[in-house]
Amino acid sequence: MADSSQPVPPAPADVEATQAISGGQKIDPWNVSGEVGEDGKVKAIDYQKLTNEFGTSLIDDKLLERWEKVTGHKPHRFMRRQIVFSHRDLSLILDRYEKNEPFYLYTGRGPSSDSMHVGHTQVFDFVKWLQDVLDVPLIIMLTDDEKFLFSEKRTVEEVIGYSKTNAMDIIAIGFDPKKTFIFSDFEYVGGAFYRNIVRFSKRVTYNTAKAIFGFDGSSNIGKIHFASIQGATAFATSFPHIFGADEKRVAGIPCLIPCAIDQDPYFRLTRDAAYGLRYAKPSLIHMRFLDALQGPGSKMSASDANSAIFLSDTAKQIKTKINKYAFSGGQETLEEHRELGGNPDVDVAYQYLQFMMDDDEELARLNREYRSGELLTGEMKNICIEHLQKYVTGFQERRAKVTEDVVNEFMATRPLEWAGNPKVPRA
Ligand code: TYM
Ligand code: TRP
Repeated sequence: MADSSQPVPPAPADVEATQAISGGQKIDPWNVSGEVGEDGKVKAIDYQKLTNEFGTSLIDDKLLERWEKVTGHKPHRFMRRQIVFSHRDLSLILDRYEKNEPFYLYTGRGPSSDSMHVGHTQVFDFVKWLQDVLDVPLIIMLTDDEKFLFSEKRTVEEVIGYSKTNAMDIIAIGFDPKKTFIFSDFEYVGGAFYRNIVRFSKRVTYNTAKAIFGFDGSSNIGKIHFASIQGATAFATSFPHIFGADEKRVAGIPCLIPCAIDQDPYFRLTRDAAYGLRYAKPSLIHMRFLDALQGPGSKMSASDANSAIFLSDTAKQIKTKINKYAFSGGQETLEEHRELGGNPDVDVAYQYLQFMMDDDEELARLNREYRSGELLTGEMKNICIEHLQKYVTGFQERRAKVTEDVVNEFMATRPLEWAGNPKVPRA
């Protein structure tokens, strides 16, 4: 809780934040790669190891049971399948929900191009579910400034354009306009938000930024400062139009940040800065990546067209990409496959189905029959193609209905309306 009468502790940003040392695998906001084995091949990302290295906690059955008890909702399939596998202080958010104390959801997107892929929408689909279940405000940040600073080529005008088209994609996920504020950094920075950005930046030394993000003397200074902007969005006082202008009261309102694990370095730093600023520390809930088509050692990435299924892909393109590029955990020949069985753990088609197929029993059957050799790679790929086509077509239909007016509605600086925990009696 912010309390200006208390002395602020000395820059603690070096405590929690610099502990991320990656052993062989490289996961940060700009790189996602599994460890390289002795055979020169990239191994699957070891998520368990990542939680140890990053100092986060695994989401275990006990926490899921508590989730169900407190919210009254069966955990989402991502939670049941350890796709949402790790967290920081999720239990504190459940405590607040139980007591009907305010908190909000915060997530974001770096608008690097017009083409979002189905990896990005997995996070947003999950966030929509969280918004429906928890009934709290959601803030979605579009870091167009970041995508300008971290690229040699893009212009300011270009990334501002991407903010708008990406906002349309995000809106098509189905967020509730009454409870959702989407903003672009180039538009919203100023006022209370900028005050927090500057407070944040004062608490982070160059050495800390270097240690966490790997910057060096040749990095432009905008990159070094950028973490303050992504971080300051985790403070409720940055949004007086949503939470009110009483900074003392609002300072204690935390957020829950759903993101893929690559974004954690930003928020490790933010949690340290929050402590120094006497703001509520953000809680996090981390997702693993939707694999690149090439296999589980890297993530689906917009900068490599053959690694990803884009939201703009046609049904035919999806079919071709899966058939041609999706890494198979099956055996070389039909005879071998029947005899030895396949490995769903590295099979990209199966991995995608783990994200998309809601039916636990059907998924378990595919897993079993693939391992036994009963189900063939081509059959697994066909089921995956069907699911992906349905997913992308459904998205495209909703996207076609998002107009400029709708974008303006979501991006307007305005109060939001939400109910909080409906099970708790109102005052
Ligand atoms: P960006 O645009 O790189 O990614 C947006 C969100 O998608 C996640 N993600 C993936 N999830 C699953 N599978 C994948 N293959 C995959 N690729 C990306 C990212 O982790 C992220 O959650 N700097 C951020 C924007 C941002 C943000 C945030 C993200 C600002 N504030 C708060 C999350 C939470 C960025 O460039 O994200
Ligand atoms: N009013 C803006 C417009 O339509 C909507 C908007 C807000 C926007 N932030 C943005 C558009 C950022 C592009 C980028 O122009």
